[in-house]
Amino acid sequence: MATATATVHPNIALVKYWGKRNGPLNLPAVPSLSLTLDTFTTRTTVTWGSEADRAQLDGRPATPGESKRIFDFLDLIDPRRPPCAVTTANDFPTAAGLASSSSGFAALAVAGAAAAGQDLDAQALSVLARQGSGSASRSLWGGFVEWEMGTREDGTDSVGVPVAPKDHWDVAMVVAVVSDAKKAIGSRPAMRLSAETSPYYGTWVKTAAADVEVARAAVLNRDLEALGRVMEQSTHKMHATMTTCTPPVFYAQPGTIACIHAVMALRDSGTSAWLTMDAGPNVKVLCAAADADAVHAALAPHAAVVHRLGPGGAPVLS
Ligand code: DP6
Repeated sequence: MATATATVHPNIALVKYWGKRNGPLNLPAVPSLSLTLDTFTTRTTVTWGSEADRAQLDGRPATPGESKRIFDFLDLIDPRRPPCAVTTANDFPTAAGLASSSSGFAALAVAGAAAAGQDLDAQALSVLARQGSGSASRSLWGGFVEWEMGTREDGTDSVGVPVAPKDHWDVAMVVAVVSDAKKAIGSRPAMRLSAETSPYYGTWVKTAAADVEVARAAVLNRDLEALGRVMEQSTHKMHATMTTCTPPVFYAQPGTIACIHAVMALRDSGTSAWLTMDAGPNVKVLCAAADADAVHAALAPHAAVVHRLGPGGAPVLS
């Protein structure tokens, strides 16, 4: 019996992953690029060898659906594994709209492989984490990370690649939580619906690689305006594939729209602030760290809570 604990930060996509080319292996239809955040973490402990498979999430027993996802994932590490015990907790509210599955499956990969006695490097852990949740493939590194979609059938080259470490650029990500209402549809079924029914999905897929190229160069050049422009376009294109689904998928709430206008007004008044949104109503704004207070103040009237975050580091194993 061995036990390992991993502490992992969530990441936010600046150029989005939306759509799969292979469901069972969880291979993406597009490449993506993200920023790993500081402050918030998922902490996961795996004990390899227990009387039965048992999982605790945020202090409560996992539901049957959650347990299946967790233990199917541990089967990927070793199909002949013993029963295992898993305890996982986020120190951030899931309603914050921060991708908890990104840190969740990355933490399960890191702690699970270590508890199993497997010495996997970050790339191998990324390939593993990807099979739990796509965005998790990017949480194996701090700072800016690209998820290369790869070309191999077996997905072994569909993996995260570090682009720049967390201290490369003094930026902030200001997160406006505008609603904590449970979303009507999760990202996985919404992605599928976009691929199956949106007339814009083809354009989304065709233009994504060029967006990642622009974003990577902008990160390396520390060019906030170039990164911001392509980041906003990626978000709006992704949401365009959702709103044009049958039936439409619409995550924005009135507060979302108010935040979008607040960000545009900030830019009109000379502050370089750029927004992104995921499969939910909350708005995340990238800006220079020196502008984070001004961005926070502009979003606060439209949000229930505003978090001020920065670039975070790589997973820590203990
Ligand atoms: C909108 O990684 O949660 O946050 O691979 O189906 O588990 P699965 O999806 P998930 O999707 C994240 C989608 C997104 C954009 C992104 O993080 O790139």
